[in-house]
Amino acid sequence: MRRIKLPVHIAFIMDGNGRWAKRRFRPRGYGHKMGVQNMTKICSHAFKLGVRIVTVYALSTENLSRPKEELDELFELIRLYFGKKRDKLIEMQVKINVLGDISVLPEDVQNDILEVTEETANYSEGLFNICINYGARQEIVRAVNAAVSYGRFVDEASFKDLLSTAGVPDPDLIIRTGGEVRLSNFLLYQAAYSELYFSKKMWPEFSRRDLERAIENYSARDRRFGNVKGG
Ligand code: IPE
Ligand code: IPE
Ligand code: MG
Repeated sequence: MRRIKLPVHIAFIMDGNGRWAKRRFRPRGYGHKMGVQNMTKICSHAFKLGVRIVTVYALSTENLSRPKEELDELFELIRLYFGKKRDKLIEMQVKINVLGDISVLPEDVQNDILEVTEETANYSEGLFNICINYGARQEIVRAVNAAVSYGRFVDEASFKDLLSTAGVPDPDLIIRTGGEVRLSNFLLYQAAYSELYFSKKMWPEFSRRDLERAIENYSARDRRFGNVKGG
């Protein structure tokens, strides 16, 4: 890639697995399987390019209303990647953090997640946030209730510390694949000044080159943050 301004933090809304599979006359579960494979490929590439923080939307709170059969397949993939295939995550050599309410997962999977986060806790070069049963509105309401229970007013800095992204800089760039142009309850507070990039590619077919294109596009943007001149 030519000389460019790299985002520190990229967040992905990995959408389009089901449609990608359907176009290939395959079940939705196959799309999810290929989607997870692509997640490790694309996120590794992002870290290789020098991005320090990557956040992925793997499962939304609202996704829990999908048919049981599809949820079972999604939960199995979570079990696989934090269990037998955890090397795929650990070999990225970045700290892994899971955001969202994982109490909906079977207890052994919750334990596996804990083990993976502990095993990678000392990697300080990069941070990989995986959002599972995550919803931004739920996150904000939880933070408000926490502030109320502590009996204190918040300012922007102390409110941020009550969110699941406490201590993590906001995403500079949010990339959504799958052709939809919406945030679907993802990082609503943190996205206030994120640059948004929408790709028509379905997530399993989003390539390393597509990622580089998105970063190049970001690099050419003028982030004014409400001021008159960009940096
Ligand atoms: C994104 O792909 C993955 C999850 C939401 C779990 P979808 O499953 O939403 O795929 P489409 O949007 O139906 O194609
Ligand atoms: C957003 O995709 C959630 C994830 C990618 C995990 P959805 O497919 O759930 O979003 P909607 O329903 O099209 O808004
Ligand atoms: Mg979708």
